[in-house]
Amino acid sequence: MSTSATDSPAEIGTADVVDDELVEAFERLIPQLSSSSPPPSRQHLEALVSNADTVLFLARIEGRIIGSLTLAFFPIPTGTKAWIEDVVVDDAARGYGVGAALSLAAIDEARRRGAKDVNLTSRPAREAANRLYQRLGFHQRNSNLYRYTF
Ligand SMILES: CC(C)(COP(=O)(O)OP(=O)(O)OC[C@H]1O[C@@H](n2cnc3c(N)ncnc32)[C@H](O)[C@@H]1OP(=O)(O)O)[C@@H](O)C(=O)NCCC(=O)NCCS
Repeated sequence: MSTSATDSPAEIGTADVVDDELVEAFERLIPQLSSSSPPPSRQHLEALVSNADTVLFLARIEGRIIGSLTLAFFPIPTGTKAWIEDVVVDDAARGYGVGAALSLAAIDEARRRGAKDVNLTSRPAREAANRLYQRLGFHQRNSNLYRYTF
């Protein structure tokens, strides 16, 4: 796992292998992010970790995985899009800057890969998340968000 320094007590790195620890961490974290999405299977995590256009960031305190953020890249005619998705920090570790540290690591990586900006969505009800993103410099865009559900 590679690391980057931040002000938070967490060590931020990227997931390079899928092991029991990673599977168990997502079984613990995903219910704290979504009540409708099940935790990823080992196979799904393997597809994610081996995808060169997706970076799975992990935050650890004393070695234990306590947060995660996924950064996804895709090329479009006008450039390279970078999206942050599925940001979650374990309830017991919130309020110590771990979410900020994960987000800053993602911004650094997006800049390094040549994306011209970093995008994300966050429901208004996610008050802590919206405060965090605005504090870090994300600006709210005026656009309609659509979804076609199968
Ligand atoms: C959003 C989330 C990732 C932030 O993680 P975090 O490690 O607490 O983030 P930070 O400590 O960097 O900052 C979060 C902000 O919320 C506050 N906060 C969040 N949880 C808190 C808690 N339990 N106690 C006190 N403050 C808390 C922090 O003080 C900080 O406020 P500020 O920006 O006004 O200074 C985390 O709250 C979380 O996992 N929430 C549930 C999932 C979610 O909403 N994900 C975002 C999807 S878009």
